[in-house]
Parts: sequence; C-alpha cells; structure tokens
Amino acid sequence: MTDDINQILDDQETDVVVEAIGGIEPAHQYILAALEHGKHVITANKAVIAIYLKEFTDAAEANNVKFYFEASVGGGIPWIQGLEKALRIDNVNSISGIFNGTSNFILDQMSRNGETFVKVLKKAQELGYAEADPSADIDGYDVANKLCISADIAYNIDIKDHQDLPIFGIRNITCSDVKYFQQKGFSVKLIGRTRQSGNKFDYAVEPALFLNRTLEANTPDNYNLISLNGDTIGKLDFFGQGAGMLPTANAVIQDILDIKEQKSHLKRNFDKRMEYCPELTKGNYLVRSKTDVRGLLKNYELSQEGAYLMVHQIPVGEMHQIMKVVLKADKSAFMVNVPSQGAVA
Ligand code: HSE
Repeated sequence: MTDDINQILDDQETDVVVEAIGGIEPAHQYILAALEHGKHVITANKAVIAIYLKEFTDAAEANNVKFYFEASVGGGIPWIQGLEKALRIDNVNSISGIFNGTSNFILDQMSRNGETFVKVLKKAQELGYAEADPSADIDGYDVANKLCISADIAYNIDIKDHQDLPIFGIRNITCSDVKYFQQKGFSVKLIGRTRQSGNKFDYAVEPALFLNRTLEANTPDNYNLISLNGDTIGKLDFFGQGAGMLPTANAVIQDILDIKEQKSHLKRNFDKRMEYCPELTKGNYLVRSKTDVRGLLKNYELSQEGAYLMVHQIPVGEMHQIMKVVLKADKSAFMVNVPSQGAVA
C-alpha cells in the first residue's frame, strides 16, 4: 500500500498499473508516467481516455507496452473487444445504444414503478452505478465520453472537444412524460449514436423513444445495449451489465489476462481526418416547453401532440442548438427523439 505514485513508478517488479482513481487529473499524468516508465496500463476511466486516447496509445507504442481499457465502455460487456474484432475485416458505419447504466436504471424504474427521478437516482447511487458526481450520468456527459471512445476506434479519428457536440440528458424528464410515452407504446432511453458517411461523421447524445417490441425498450436496470453496423456483418448487438463494481472489475481482469497471455488488441493511430457534420442526420422530436418555441422552429413542419410540439425532420445538430436557446427561457424544457416509423399520435 502506498499513496506515492513514484513508489509505483520506480518499483521494478510492478509491470502492470491499473488506474482506478477516475477524473482527468492526476489520472492523465499518472497513466502517461506509468507508460513512460515501461509499465502496461489498464484503466476504466472513460473521462480521461475520451480526451487522451491518442496520446496514451502513442506513449504505449513508443515504450513498447500495452494500454487497454475494456472496462471504460459498457462495463462488463466485451464491447471494445467486439468493436475491434468487427473492425479487423469491416467498415463500421454506425454505432448506437444505451451506454449508461445509471440513466437506464432511472428510466426503467420510473416506467415500472412510477417512482420520481430524485428517488431513483438515490437508489442508483446506493447501488454504486452512478459516477461520484451523478450529473455526468444524467446530463449525458458519461455517454458522450463512451461514444467518443467508440467513434475514435471505429473511424480511427481523434475527436476533439467531444463534450461540445450535441448532448442532451434526462435531468428534466418527469413521471408524466414517461407515462405519456408509455401510453403511446414507447419506452424512453438515453442513447448515444454516431454515423459516418464519406468523410463526415455525426454524433449525438439524447433521450429517444423506442417501440416496446425493440431490444432497446427491453433493456432493463443497469444494463447497456450497444449496437454497431458493419458493411458486411450488418447489425451486431452487445448486451450486459454496463455499470457496477463486479462487471467493471471483470473487464479489468480480462485486460490483465490479455497482457499476461500477450494478446494484442487492434492497432489504431487515430490520425484519420474526418469532419463532424451537424446536418448529416435528420430526426423527429417532441419538445415540451412552457415557452412558445414555434418561432425558433418556423422552418420545419410542426404538429401538436398532447403537451408536446412535434418537430418533423430537423437536422439533429440544429435541434440541439435550438434546445440550448429554449433552456435559457425554460430551465425545465425537455426534448426526445421519435423514431420515423413511430408517429406518436
Ligand atoms: N456511471 C457509469 C454508468 C458507470 O452508470 O454507466 C459505468 O461506466
């Protein structure tokens, strides 16, 4: 036991370092120092990887050691491994899914038991699903970190400022929202999605409705469901516990065993150039606000659906920008993506 990083760095017998302190600094400096001291590094820390994946990968390569991070996305699900395996022979053109156990647990409990957001969040914290600061879970930033890592690997790029891309969380969802969506045959989930086309990619974190028969709607508790679409493999779904002490530890140990058995993971240098395109994907949205938002949305077809304004076929990036303006006037406003095959009325 030590609380001095230098003792670990200078210990010749320590050849693998598992970083589990979380956050950006000093985790970033410690990981880099461990790699530069010729030690393999394993981490579950998605916040630091989302920013420094290329830097860590370059440092590992330069020092002839491994940098593995299976537990950072999807908890116990072998998602990174599955994605990397798909990429050995395929072009992965899109990724989408439920990347956050805490928000899924909250939405699931609200739908099943009609419990309030605040009460269920407390339960998720007690079960050890939530981040130290749970706003990362409910405001979508944890999903953004995991989506950024997945997209970096899938497209071999280095996304900068991923937390400035479209992110809208579930902080403002109410029991009446959940009930209304249920009555219409939908479940609401917080999802992350990205798609590439040519040299462009898009990226969004947002609440979305799913028809009750879909896999997403049937993903309960702290489970995650992450899907990729490959040119030859088609759709592949990865399902399992996305948060929690034991599933996360399981993924960390898998990485340690890979190092022991000298199993190499996919080589990526993250140096492909692609442009983020906010107009690449269009969607339908339900917007709930106490203020009149029609003026902001006048370029799009609108229809009233109960307490919600339905916005038809708006570019995803623009919808998120408009919601930022709406939230300034109405802090409790909410929006949700609606699948095109599932008109709510
Ligand atoms: N807080 C995260 C979640 C932990 O709820 O998904 C796993 O990354």
